[in-house]
Amino acid sequence: MLMGVSLGPGDAELLTVKGKRVIEESDQVIVPGRLAERIVRRFRDDVRVVEVPMGRADEVIENLSGELAERCVNEDIAFCVLGDVAFFSTFQDLVKAVKRKNPDVVVEMIPGVPSFTAVFSRLGMFVDGSMRVRSALGEEEKFEVILKATEPLEMADDLKNRGFSVVQVERMYMEGEFVGEPEEKASYFTMVVGWR
Ligand SMILES: C[S@@+](CC[C@H](N)C(=O)[O-])C[C@H]1O[C@@H](n2cnc3c(N)ncnc32)[C@H](O)[C@@H]1O
Repeated sequence: MLMGVSLGPGDAELLTVKGKRVIEESDQVIVPGRLAERIVRRFRDDVRVVEVPMGRADEVIENLSGELAERCVNEDIAFCVLGDVAFFSTFQDLVKAVKRKNPDVVVEMIPGVPSFTAVFSRLGMFVDGSMRVRSALGEEEKFEVILKATEPLEMADDLKNRGFSVVQVERMYMEGEFVGEPEEKASYFTMVVGWR
């Protein structure tokens, strides 16, 4: 299995319990840089650093994915990144390349604390309104997440009219988790997620 582990924004104590366990139990842990290495070394000594420098990223990912496409069939390898693994992370490129070479490799993503939520705790601020997260590199806006989506179908229709694909996610990581087609009514612990 290939696991993408979120390390959080920089303080090793902001790693999740699950992330720590995966780091401790994996056959090998790989990090893409020294900042990530410093965090992982709090939990195990043998950390492999594979730098992914701009300009040479394609070549590094190509080589590493070839190796992992074979090894992750029988071994559990953890690739650890700063922040949350789902957001603008090197792991995305790695997974795409590994899957191209071996679609049978099982991939799991361990969520963590992303920089753009942690920053509000650092500033002592509360987010009590809608919020936009964007990249300075000007990538197009491709995702929208609606919280408190107790009427998912109505929210979904609005998103669909704006060209999004949509899913309802209810009680995520909890008992009774539901991920599927938006329904008319849902509990308070529901999000509608759109992407295009
Ligand atoms: C390629 S993105 C990766 C985001 C990361 N996966 C996350 O969930 O936070 C890198 C950007 O995240 C922001 N970032 C990440 N960690 C940060 C930190 N500890 N302090 C300030 N900004 C941070 C910076 O804007 C940086 O350019």
